[in-house]
Amino acid sequence: MSKITAAITGIAGYVPEYILTNEELSKMVDTTDEWIMARIGIRERHILREKGLGTSFMAEKAVRMLIAKTNTNVDDIDMVVCCGVTPDMPFPATANIVSDLVGIKKAFGFDINAGCSSFLFALATVAKFIETGKYKKIILIGADKISTFVDYTDRATCPIFGDGAGAVLIEPNTEGYGMIDEILHVDGSGRKYLYQKAGGSSYPATMETVVNRQHFIFQDGQPVYKAAVSNMTETSLKMMKRHGLTSENIDWLVPHQANLRIIKAVGQHMGLPEEKVMVNIQRYGNTTAATLPLCMWDFENRLKKGDNIILTTFGAGFTWGAIYLKWAYNGHQMAEKEKEISLD
Ligand code: UT7
Repeated sequence: MSKITAAITGIAGYVPEYILTNEELSKMVDTTDEWIMARIGIRERHILREKGLGTSFMAEKAVRMLIAKTNTNVDDIDMVVCCGVTPDMPFPATANIVSDLVGIKKAFGFDINAGCSSFLFALATVAKFIETGKYKKIILIGADKISTFVDYTDRATCPIFGDGAGAVLIEPNTEGYGMIDEILHVDGSGRKYLYQKAGGSSYPATMETVVNRQHFIFQDGQPVYKAAVSNMTETSLKMMKRHGLTSENIDWLVPHQANLRIIKAVGQHMGLPEEKVMVNIQRYGNTTAATLPLCMWDFENRLKKGDNIILTTFGAGFTWGAIYLKWAYNGHQMAEKEKEISLD
C-alpha cells in the first residue's frame, strides 16, 4: 500500500468588515503611518468590534465557505481542530462551538494553543491523524480575535495586531502530495518577552489585574524580533538541507506575518526572491494563528499542484518551526469558484 500523506485540499478565510487604519491609530496613540509602515509594514488591520462576537464568529464564516467551495458533506467530517490564543471562553473548546454553529455533528475535536505558531503545530498534529488511515476529512481552523487583548493606549503593541480566521480541509493523499516533514521547537524561557499575565489560573481576573492592565499583551519587541529572524531562518534552512530544496525549487515561502522586516530577512537568508514570499501583512497585520491560512487563501489562485512550499512561524512561548509540504491541487479553479459562492 502506498504511503498516506495529509494534504490540504481546500482553504478559506474571513476577516471582519471594520478596518482600522494607521491614520485612525495615530489619533489614538502617539504614532504615524510612516513609522508603522517603515518599522512593521502594516497599513491596516481588520477588527471584530461587535459586542458578544468572539473567535468562533470568524471561524464559522471561514468554515462555511470552506465546506461550500470543497462540496463537503458535514456528516463526512471526522475531526475539527481550532488553534489560536483567543478561544471564545476558557472552556468549552472553540472547536466545539464552531462545529455546533456549522452543523458538524459526527466529528470530534479540540483546541491547540502554540502562540503565533499555533497553525504550524496544529497542522503537524492533525497530519498524524490522517497518516494513520483512520481519519479522512479534518477541518483545521487558525483563528484569533487578538484585538481582545490589545491595549489601544500602548503604541508599542497596538499597531501590530488584527483579527481574522482561516480554515483548511485536510484529506489523505497517496500520490506524494501534502505534508512531507516538520521541524518544531519550544523554548519556555522566552515566555518573559511576550505574554498576557492575567486571566489564567496564576492571576485570575480581579479589580487589581484590570486596573493594572494585566489582561493586555506585553511584548519586549527587540528580543522577540531577533529570536524570530534567527529561529525561522535556522529551521527553514535545516528543512531545505534535509530535502535538497534550493531557492530554485522552492515555489513559495509562507512566513508568519508579524513584521515585514522579519519576513524579508528570513526570505533573504533562504536566498529567495521577493516574489516567492507570501506577504499580506500590509492589509491584515499580525492575526496570530490565522496568518498562515490567510496567506495561502489570498494566494490560492496562484498555487499549483506540486508546488514546494515552506511554512515557517515564530511566536509566544517561544514557539517556532518549519513545515515542508507539496501543494495538492491547482488553486486557480477553486479560487474562482469561491467568487461565485454567496453564503448570506
Ligand atoms: O507574532 C509573535 C512574534 N512577534 C514578533 O515577531 C514581533 C517582533 N518585534 C517587532 O516586530 C518589533 O520589535 C516591533 C515592531 C514590536 C517594534 O519595532 P522596533 O524597531 O523594535 O522598535 P523599538 O521597540 O526598538 O522602538 C524604537 C523607537 C522607540 O523610541 P526611542 O526609545 O528610540 O525614542 C519607541 O518608543 O520607536 C518608538 N516606538 C514608536 N514610535 C512611533 C515604538 N512604537 C512606536 C510607534 N510609533 N507605534
